[in-house]
Amino acid sequence: MSTDPSSGDLARARGLLEDAARVFILTGAGISAESGVPTFRGEDGLWRSYRPEELATPQAFRKDPRLVWEWYAWRRGKVSDCEPNPGHRALARLALARPARIVTQNVDGLHEVAARDEADGSDWSAASPLELHGSLFRVRCTECAYHGRDRADIDATDRDTLPSCPECAALLRPDIVWFGEALDPLVLSAAFDEAREADLCLVVGTSAVVQPAASLPRITREAGGSVIEVNPQTTPLTDFADVALKGPAGIVLPTLMGD
Ligand code: APR
Repeated sequence: MSTDPSSGDLARARGLLEDAARVFILTGAGISAESGVPTFRGEDGLWRSYRPEELATPQAFRKDPRLVWEWYAWRRGKVSDCEPNPGHRALARLALARPARIVTQNVDGLHEVAARDEADGSDWSAASPLELHGSLFRVRCTECAYHGRDRADIDATDRDTLPSCPECAALLRPDIVWFGEALDPLVLSAAFDEAREADLCLVVGTSAVVQPAASLPRITREAGGSVIEVNPQTTPLTDFADVALKGPAGIVLPTLMGD
């Protein structure tokens, strides 16, 4: 993408952003690429000889919760070494400054870190993302309704050292949507409401093939809104978008927002 503000696409995108009363932001793995977050299936994402499909399932957790927690402890450690990049930060500033909602498919927690950093001690909740697939840094109880955020180290040396529920003492599990599980219907319906109410959908770093997230830009469009895509590659959404800004999120987003 040309970062020259007079370039047609960038000027159009800026116009859409300025005119939007409410912005819906959908992100995927690409927003975290420049932070160095290991991809799920890439070489950095592999752990011992296991494939993610063997560990990220309710069956695997029932069979061997210690092993699954050990893997999540390792993934948390990898992601904790990463920092939000200028793309996360630009989105956090946008959501703190104007009516906007960040909805992410990522489980890396980096939108939350960026929101806290950019809010600099004040209320960061406006930039708190709706996490469609859960988060590595959230837990929930296997028995009761307890949910919590948790960045503590996991001790997975033994079944007895695994995290337990502060309310009922049962085993906690990662609050992640595993293979074979449905997305939380409340989170999903909140995301669809946000997409419908927005007059601009900004889609960043997603291949736009995994449902139901891939339908969300279409919901904004059907409700009369516009769509901007930020992605260095062509996706199934590129032709559908009103403007496609081709480039890495860490450069395109701060430029789009005039930072
Ligand atoms: N800036 C913006 N986009 C980028 C960048 C970057 N620096 N680098 C890569 N991308 C784009 C790629 O071109 C690709 O279109 O990010 C997209 C990443 O696509 P996927 O890896 O398929 O990630 P995502 O769309 O988030 O996957 C959705 O599928 O694997 C499951 O549950 C997992 O949440 C994930 C879901």
